[in-house]
Amino acid sequence: MTEAKIIDGNLFSAQLRDKVAQRVRDMGLRHRITPGLAVVLVGEDPASQVYVRNKRKRAVEVGMRSFEHTLETDVTEHELLTLIAGLNDDPEVHGILVQLPLPKHIDAQKVIEAIRPDKDVDGFHPWNVGMLASGGVGMVPCTPLGSLMLLKDHLGSLTGLKAIVVGRSNIVGKPMAHLLLREDCTVTIAHSRTRDLPDEVRRADIVVAAVGRPEMVRGDWIKPGATVIDVGINRIALPDGKSKLVGDVRFDEAKQVAGAITPVPGGVGPMTIACLLRNTVVAAARQHRLHGEDEGI
Ligand code: GUN
Repeated sequence: MTEAKIIDGNLFSAQLRDKVAQRVRDMGLRHRITPGLAVVLVGEDPASQVYVRNKRKRAVEVGMRSFEHTLETDVTEHELLTLIAGLNDDPEVHGILVQLPLPKHIDAQKVIEAIRPDKDVDGFHPWNVGMLASGGVGMVPCTPLGSLMLLKDHLGSLTGLKAIVVGRSNIVGKPMAHLLLREDCTVTIAHSRTRDLPDEVRRADIVVAAVGRPEMVRGDWIKPGATVIDVGINRIALPDGKSKLVGDVRFDEAKQVAGAITPVPGGVGPMTIACLLRNTVVAAARQHRLHGEDEGI
């Protein structure tokens, strides 16, 4: 058996960011509009600080405006909601992202629901969740959207394929299942209570692993030739005291069996920010009623 094709998320995301940059230039030249992304960070979680810094860097690279709001950990829910209300009303802000997780004293769902749905570039607002579930046009969460782009780039049509999504989070698992359903896949959502998980995974032509458990999906769970999308990013300690990033799939095993597989890092990860930029330019086009300008990106 030949080894799996390694799906290059770094390359694909760079191409997507180039397309977004082109669209940003066009909107500036033709309509004098510069898409703007506001990112709100509460507290000092080191991982969140890194994500937010990268989002800002990439937004500026593609020619967008980036508005960063860093709030103290003890900010009140009311203060955060007031900031969001201001961003909702600011015509220079087309996309709003509140970095999760939030401190415990803040109701994250209430915060998500305060964001204007057409500026909700994360696609977490119930309006966007409902649009995805009912086949309408809304904002699609970035990580599932990026995963779907990689799948379609590799496989072309997904019609009729059996897909399994391992993990049922609101951020990845559930929206991923809806996207696959929209592509006419036969979709199974598996989770921590699923019985005979290896057998369920073995039936699938497409495996999306998004459980957040390091290397849980083993090579002998994979149907020969299947396409494996590994959404997990887990840092594990090594015996020598160092650490490394691994996905939710045992990569060395799975690549012997799969037809194609995303690596960690360098697979789905870089797609998330690229899709955030894509969603922001789409949001700007929709808010300015530039019809047809959000197609094909
Ligand atoms: N924290 C981890 N992933 C995400 C994401 O996709 N969006 C937001 N807002 N916060 C996150």
